[in-house]
Amino acid sequence: MPAKGVVAGINDQIAKEFYAAYLYLAMAAYCDAESLPGFAHWMRMQYDEELGHALRLFDFLLERGERVQLKAIEKPPLKFGSPLEVIKATLTHEKKVTASINKLYETAVKEKDYPAQLMLQWFINEQVEEERSVGDIIAQLEMAGDSGPALLMMDRQLGSRQAEGGGE
Ligand code: FEO
Repeated sequence: MPAKGVVAGINDQIAKEFYAAYLYLAMAAYCDAESLPGFAHWMRMQYDEELGHALRLFDFLLERGERVQLKAIEKPPLKFGSPLEVIKATLTHEKKVTASINKLYETAVKEKDYPAQLMLQWFINEQVEEERSVGDIIAQLEMAGDSGPALLMMDRQLGSRQAEGGGE
């Protein structure tokens, strides 16, 4: 039986992952409207990944015979500024998710919920990877500065992103 704090925390995290998916979908729409199809594609891949994260947590609760409580998902913003600002907003959001996953892991440790700890270790690794890849894009965009050709090249590079193996 999973501990109560862990179940409540996972239910909250499911909503956070769905919000992340919604946020990246809003960013995909914004980038598309700003004539940045590569950025839009990259955001759409993020959206897919976040859905995968939410469902991974959802399935974990179901497999353990727990109740899933789906919660309201906040409305994401409509506008995100320059391409650099969009990606920076991504990193800010990922850092929030990392803090939330770490807190959930602490709860699982406190409540001695070993299966939850194992499952959450996957998320801890995933957050390291996500923050690193977004950080790399920010560094490249900062190097590009105001150069139109460099931005177009970045757009092409982001447009070539493939879905990860396992779809998450
Ligand atoms: Fe589900 Fe991007 O963290």
